[in-house]
Amino acid sequence: MIKFPGLIDVHVHLRDPGQTEKEDFFTGTSSALAGGFTTILDMPNNKIPITSIKTLIEKQKIAKEKIVCDVGFYFGSLGENLKDFNKVQDKVFGLKIYLNKTTGNLIIDNKNLNNIFKAWTTNSPILLHAEGKSINQVINIVSETGKRVHFCHIGISSDLKQIIKAKENRLPITCGTTPHYLFLTEKDAKILGPFGLMKPSLGSKADQNFLWKNLKHVDVIESDHAPHTVEEKKSDHPPFGVPGLETTLPLLLTAVFENKLSINRLIELCFKNPKKIFNIKTDKNTWVEIDEKEEYIIDNKKLFTKCGWSPFNGWKVKGKVKRVFIREKKVFENGKLLVKPGFGKVVTN
Ligand code: NCD
Ligand code: ZN
Repeated sequence: MIKFPGLIDVHVHLRDPGQTEKEDFFTGTSSALAGGFTTILDMPNNKIPITSIKTLIEKQKIAKEKIVCDVGFYFGSLGENLKDFNKVQDKVFGLKIYLNKTTGNLIIDNKNLNNIFKAWTTNSPILLHAEGKSINQVINIVSETGKRVHFCHIGISSDLKQIIKAKENRLPITCGTTPHYLFLTEKDAKILGPFGLMKPSLGSKADQNFLWKNLKHVDVIESDHAPHTVEEKKSDHPPFGVPGLETTLPLLLTAVFENKLSINRLIELCFKNPKKIFNIKTDKNTWVEIDEKEEYIIDNKKLFTKCGWSPFNGWKVKGKVKRVFIREKKVFENGKLLVKPGFGKVVTN
């Protein structure tokens, strides 16, 4: 049995309020515990985006009643709410900006980017959904403004190359990748169809090899847990996104077993760096116990996420979350949730 600190996932979409047919605060945080995560940070692209103090406070209120692990939030912007930035800074862990097409209505007009950067004066990072040329645009603004940014879900070698170069120039930049870029490629996307559809799209085997080879330049592994219903995924216009809270750790532990990653590096990517980058308080009596030798098959039917599917369904993994403790209290054991909705805390900066 091995013991990890309660892991931190800095990129999840719990869909509550507004799209609770996909996930809600209770099912999403249950899924987090089953996956070994005790603190998660929730994105602002809700059906009604979190771009006002009112929607943010309302969301935190709803969360408080339902969550079973700790949850923090991000603020969103289309460039219209700059005056609110100062008022939300102590309530969120960063500002999320979308520059490329994905799920939700939060894609900004590029000409607003400069003003948004100038208006975000707090020390928490600006998080970017940026691909291709957008990354270059952001890097230029970072070199002008010195603002701290975190590039989300980087999986393609050309994107990562730009970031490596900017980091070499000592810009205040961090980046994350996701398990789907580490373990899936466009070949899987063909087989998975809509269930392998997400933004940014899966890359080639060469992209994946480049990512593994350059993992030392990646700061964080984030699940980008983005649940959608099976029905939506099977529709004529399937939405982008795949769930990941329950599969991230077993996939990474399997990679450890295969000598692709060390345990220390895993803890750095899923705990130490997220804690440092997003300034997250943690508790020494919060931990996860894992049977590193237990092998099992990822099974859609056994997932806690409300969407009830995973692109990794059927995969054999090695390393199982057995018990999770938060502030000394046993909250999860052998596939069973042991606490009631509301046990988790809404955490703030
Ligand atoms: C995410 C979602 O569904 O909210 N989708 C995705 O494909 N990753 C949004 C996002 O993180 O881009
Ligand atoms: Zn996302």
